[in-house]
Amino acid sequence: MATENLHFHEHRVPREEKEKRNQHKSRVIWFTGLSGSGKSTVANATEKVLHDMGLQTYILDGDNVRIGLNKDLGFSHEDRTENIRRITEVANLFADSGSIILTAFISPYREDRDIAREVIGNKDFIEVFISADLSVCEERDPKGLYKKARAGEIKGFTGIDAPYEEPINPELVVETDKHDIEACAQIVIEYLVKEGIISKTLV
Ligand code: ADX
Repeated sequence: MATENLHFHEHRVPREEKEKRNQHKSRVIWFTGLSGSGKSTVANATEKVLHDMGLQTYILDGDNVRIGLNKDLGFSHEDRTENIRRITEVANLFADSGSIILTAFISPYREDRDIAREVIGNKDFIEVFISADLSVCEERDPKGLYKKARAGEIKGFTGIDAPYEEPINPELVVETDKHDIEACAQIVIEYLVKEGIISKTLV
């Protein structure tokens, strides 16, 4: 084992102290859904509301992470699993820093998301299914990728010729084909208030 001679260090300033100073809990809000479903858009709109309340936040986003940390990974099942594994670890570190993390990755495999939940901890993991019909995502096609996938120029595109496994029991479902962006963000904010993660007085 590569980790056999390593020892985990407890930090002198524990997470709880950071949460206390920030006046909110740290959590990982895990947005999952098809390409073009609105994960990044809803994550960004939610972050803006949280930021304006004075909370400490950070977004980990599909394309951005794949341009940097995960630029060695493609879109095979194996690579997507490794993508999500690394993001899970990064999200976990950020959560330890006292922040509210919003992740926006397709994360198409249920098993990978379940492992993320296990690693991060059930209490700290909020799975948000960003739901929009494939036809709506394809219609939006913000990056022109569905068109390329239909033309056979991209192989293994999620929803076309690669699977997307919908969450079975997510904490939240946000239907971006039924509500506008701000309303979608409010659904997330209201959940955080209801669960006591952020204070009602801030909203
Ligand atoms: S995941 O499946 O590993 O979770 P991730 O969210 O990081 O995917 O990246 C998805 C983004 O990569 C899409 O929004 C799209 O811009 C781009 N992309 C490129 N090729 C593919 C593909 N074959 N399937 C899905 N998305 C792709």
